[in-house]
Amino acid sequence: MVAITYIEHDGTRHTVEAEPNSNLMEGATLNMVPGVIGMCGGICSCATCHCYIPDAWQTRIPPPADGEKLMLEAVNQRRPNSRLGCQVLVTEALDGIEVELPADGNAG
Ligand code: FES
Repeated sequence: MVAITYIEHDGTRHTVEAEPNSNLMEGATLNMVPGVIGMCGGICSCATCHCYIPDAWQTRIPPPADGEKLMLEAVNQRRPNSRLGCQVLVTEALDGIEVELPADGNAG
């Protein structure tokens, strides 16, 4: 299992154990982390899994594909480190990662 900490905008932290080869959206939704909805089920078409990946972890995650980049253009509160959680694969290399969540809670 891979330990992932999701941090809400108000600083509330949720540390969960995620299955390798799942994704960051699933790690949150399967553990009832507020603010991550995953409305489309992970097919990169809703952006309700928007999150921020801290710089220290960027090198451990492949860059976004074109479809993800397109969806990210439409999200609220986009930052340079914005990602769609459903497009970030959970690997052992991410053990201990801290994922920040946007202030709007991905309400859509
Ligand atoms: S769950 Fe819909 S884009 Fe990620």
